[in-house]
Amino acid sequence: MTADDLLGLKLPHVTTRGQLDEVEQANVAQGLRWLARPRRGNILDDAFVRTLHRRLFGDVWSWAGTYRLSETNIGIAPHEIATQLRVLLDNARTSCAESVYPPLEAAVRLHHRMVQIHPFPNGNGRHARIAADEFLKRYCDHPPIEWASGYDLQRDSARRDAYLHALRRADAGDFEALLEFVGEGAAGESAKADG
Ligand SMILES: Nc1ncnc2c1ncn2[C@@H]1O[C@H](COP(=O)(O)OP(=O)(O)OP(=O)(O)O)[C@@H](O)[C@H]1O
Ligand SMILES: [Mg+2]
Repeated sequence: MTADDLLGLKLPHVTTRGQLDEVEQANVAQGLRWLARPRRGNILDDAFVRTLHRRLFGDVWSWAGTYRLSETNIGIAPHEIATQLRVLLDNARTSCAESVYPPLEAAVRLHHRMVQIHPFPNGNGRHARIAADEFLKRYCDHPPIEWASGYDLQRDSARRDAYLHALRRADAGDFEALLEFVGEGAAGESAKADG
């Protein structure tokens, strides 16, 4: 890990990638328990999006829950994050209620645009996978996505390759691979029909 990777790290005893994975995983698990508690408030408010990120990563990183201020490979210009995220959340709010898309398609479109905006310095993939699942639950009364499907999506695996490939296809406006990835593509449908 480089010094840059460790900017904002709250835990000085953490010095290796393995240790970092461990403390982040514990923080995410705690955030998920927080998310499972009954609550008022709207998960598609931008304030909630930031709070969720802070709950998932805020024990480990001082910048958790705050928008990125510098450019990244993936992601829009930092000064556009707040506006673009609000546009996305406004669209998502109506997409299930008004049946613009079927639930899984609404969820993967929300997920993809969120990681494409890349609001936070890090943790965008994990945060946006959890956000998409929470959206399915609260807005569409739909079970969560099988992101990992038995693999560890955070580590390199064929499953992660398929995920990243599908996101790049979605960058180009083609959501078929991402829908297939979550078991909802044309291939998945015909397989179901055959079975
Ligand atoms: N071409 C792409 N277009 C859109 N999003 C992408 C693309 N490539 C990667 N991503 C997203 O960016 C995420 C990585 O960003 P970041 O490091 O902030 O998140 P993370 O939670 O730390 O990642 P991880 O998935 O490794 O846990 C990936 O998980 C994926 O969701
Ligand atoms: Mg990362």
